Amino acid sequence: MFATTACSRSTPGLGGGGANPLPMPPLLDARPGRSFALRVQSGTTSFYPGRPSDTLGYNGSYLGPTIRVRRGDDVAAVVTNGLNADTTVHWHGLLIPGELDGGPHQIIAPGATWRPTLPIRQPAATLLYHSHVHGLTAEQVYSGLAGALLVTDDEEQGLGLPSEYGVDDLPLLIQDRQFENGRLVMPGGMMVAMQGRRGDTILVNGAVNPLAAVPNRLVRLRLVNASNARIYELSFSDRRSFHWIGTEGGLLEHAVALEAITLAPGQRAELLVDFTDGRSASLVTAADTNSSMMGGMGMMGRGARRTDAAAPATVLRFEPRPLGQARASGVVPTLLASRTGPDASKAVRRRRLSLNMGMGGMMGSGSGGGGLTINGKPFDMNRIDETVKLGSTEIWEVSGEMMRHPIHIHGVHFDVLTRGGGQPDVLDQGPRDTVVVKEPVELLIRFDQPAKSAPFMYHCHILEHEDNGMMGQFSVA
Ligand code: C2O
Ligand code: CU
Ligand code: CU
Repeated sequence: MFATTACSRSTPGLGGGGANPLPMPPLLDARPGRSFALRVQSGTTSFYPGRPSDTLGYNGSYLGPTIRVRRGDDVAAVVTNGLNADTTVHWHGLLIPGELDGGPHQIIAPGATWRPTLPIRQPAATLLYHSHVHGLTAEQVYSGLAGALLVTDDEEQGLGLPSEYGVDDLPLLIQDRQFENGRLVMPGGMMVAMQGRRGDTILVNGAVNPLAAVPNRLVRLRLVNASNARIYELSFSDRRSFHWIGTEGGLLEHAVALEAITLAPGQRAELLVDFTDGRSASLVTAADTNSSMMGGMGMMGRGARRTDAAAPATVLRFEPRPLGQARASGVVPTLLASRTGPDASKAVRRRRLSLNMGMGGMMGSGSGGGGLTINGKPFDMNRIDETVKLGSTEIWEVSGEMMRHPIHIHGVHFDVLTRGGGQPDVLDQGPRDTVVVKEPVELLIRFDQPAKSAPFMYHCHILEHEDNGMMGQFSVA
């Protein structure tokens, strides 16, 4: 039996180093009442048996349920803050007006309830929701405040893709965490502010050393990078190829056969993986080489932990078996989706964003993680950085200093026009809401959602960079 039990957060260890069955977040289907309720709460989670850690979660002690909404519905969300601290719930990737977005301006005070009604008007996609309180985003997400949000629609359901939740359609929230004696610890300090918080242990859906029993047929994986800072380079241990079928914004027009895929914080990817041969395989990641230190990790003097945190690792082991009933067609459709993306000839404006790390800051200016800015300006809740006309198309040229930064823009899905002055990478194809920059990329964006009474954010999705100033805000009217 596949482990679909709700909230099986205290995964039973099968002895030291033993595997834990992959937990499936409970499915919170908003369809019946066109509504769902989340309670933000604190609790304890035993990632290792008998070693409880203090954690945060939605309707549970760590992470949250998978929320499923349907295109065309107006969904009433009820979010209650059961913490002793402020929080917000940001619907990352949902195309909705600014005041519903759950960004830093939609604070939910302790004990308060927030009731936005979310108009779902976008194609099927894998999104996520997470805390976005300015200055506390990284800590709250690290402690557990993240979950998957699925949009579905008739077109997607007509494709015959694997769609049996928890059986052949699996949300996989990938996170790296640091443990000491089996208890979750939160690394801090200047190095963490600069590099982003990382850990030497990879969790999937909150489980260490996870093992997924999957049916021996085509399986759909909805990968969500819910880590604070780590960029994964994912492939299978046996180098099997898979079909990449979806990005942050939804399904691609055509499946792309790949052997490896990059996933930065905030990014999602939907894959179809063929397990009909019945052979076990592991999803693995290569080393994370993203660092602002010259020469990459070579210079990391006090490096043992840092080196571990960046090492190649097994993410998730799969064991195919005869399971459930094949309802999906088992074939990869040739045409997945058709989409009219933004039109480059309609672009009326160009803006430039430079994600800066203030060369001086790191080398000991003592400004406590200072120097993290966009265009030299640290984030200011009271400053609107850019003003965009509703319905217009623009080109934003974004580059990053010293290391790779996942740029995320709220309220839009964009296309990558160019990378480093040339063709975009195969992995850049859209629609996207988060892409990695270092060399300049040109993003083609149409602004269809208003943000007047509350602005949208754009920021680096390395959460420590965001919290320490690498964020700006724009209005759309
Ligand atoms: Cu996923 Cu502004 O965030
Ligand atoms: Cu977002
Ligand atoms: Cu960054």
